[in-house]
Amino acid sequence: MTDTTPAAAACALFTALAAADPVGLWSAPGRVNLIGEHTDYNDGFVFPFAIGGRTVVALGTRDDRRIRVVSTFDEVPVEVALDDLDALFPDRRDEIVEWARYPLGVAWALLSGRDAADAVGVDLAIASDVPVGAGLSSSAAIEGATASALNDVWGLGLDRVALAQAGRRAENEAVGAPTGIMDQMASMLGRADAGIFLDCRSLDAEIVELGFDTAGLDVLVVDTRVSHAHATGGYGERRAACERGAAIMGVGALRDIAVGDLPRAQELMDDVTFRRVRHVVTENQRVRDAVRTLREDGPRAIGGLLDASHASMRDDFEISTPELDLAVAVARDAGAIGARMTGGGFGGSAIALIDRALVPATTAAIAAAFADAGYGAPHIFTVHPSQGARRDA
Ligand code: GLA
Repeated sequence: MTDTTPAAAACALFTALAAADPVGLWSAPGRVNLIGEHTDYNDGFVFPFAIGGRTVVALGTRDDRRIRVVSTFDEVPVEVALDDLDALFPDRRDEIVEWARYPLGVAWALLSGRDAADAVGVDLAIASDVPVGAGLSSSAAIEGATASALNDVWGLGLDRVALAQAGRRAENEAVGAPTGIMDQMASMLGRADAGIFLDCRSLDAEIVELGFDTAGLDVLVVDTRVSHAHATGGYGERRAACERGAAIMGVGALRDIAVGDLPRAQELMDDVTFRRVRHVVTENQRVRDAVRTLREDGPRAIGGLLDASHASMRDDFEISTPELDLAVAVARDAGAIGARMTGGGFGGSAIALIDRALVPATTAAIAAAFADAGYGAPHIFTVHPSQGARRDA
């Protein structure tokens, strides 16, 4: 978190870098996923919303064909010739310091396969108030803000879905994290008071009003501060198990398996693979049920689905942690309508849908329970469904 606004911080960084004012400011938010975890790379359904925390990019042009990035993550600028991006990514990405792979990877993804001769050189200064490492997609926020800025200044004319796809490509190939497209789509398409019901196969997105405000509800985030890293480890293993399950069932992706197919799946595969498959298949159904329930009965009716999603991630997909389980259990005891871990898992954050009046007591109860358990203090705050990527100035 920065002390000042990210826009002011980005402008100050830009001026220090380029000794000039930026030509514009662009920003994109982080996201919380309401429900639909590890379904995106299985061609399934997700239902995230963009949050208020944003990453801001201040951009100026330069009269050579180079791109220079600087950020509040590390004030040492990184500079590359635009024509060298293709040689760097993906094979030589290790030569670039990790944070800079996100904006430079987006520039690479946007230029690759097109005649880049017209692309003007740029300076980008990046500042953010999306918490890093909390599972709130600080990386998608960098990608969305960078993609929006470069799309405008390079006159590429790409739509929001294409910009999200460029962000995902940067994440997968320039950073090397084998993630799906949920985070980038949420960051590009977010709207105030609304969730994005996304079909990750067709990329059709419906904006669904959440009605939390009217119902007097808040979404509480409990950042356990147990860090998670998706470039390695458990995330990739879960993805491989899903691909194995789909192959055994003879389908292209687990999206094509229905809940009614699960008894047959259980006969065909080992227990671990089966439980991974069962999570994805039931989670896809829960996303659809959550959207329908929300529309028919309002937000107070979706709590059971949030709870069931958490149980499935804890018991079948095995991506929760003791800290996340504790946050969820205490929130529920304190009166939350529903609670679940959110994001890729193995750390990061849990969310609880909760009556606004219960926020202070729930926050205190979770903090006390973490202290009693000997866990590090969590960071607990509310988030509000917000606007997606945009040009700010
Ligand atoms: C991370 C990835 C997303 C998605 C979630 C799990 O946030 O970036 O693509 O797979 O994990 O739902």
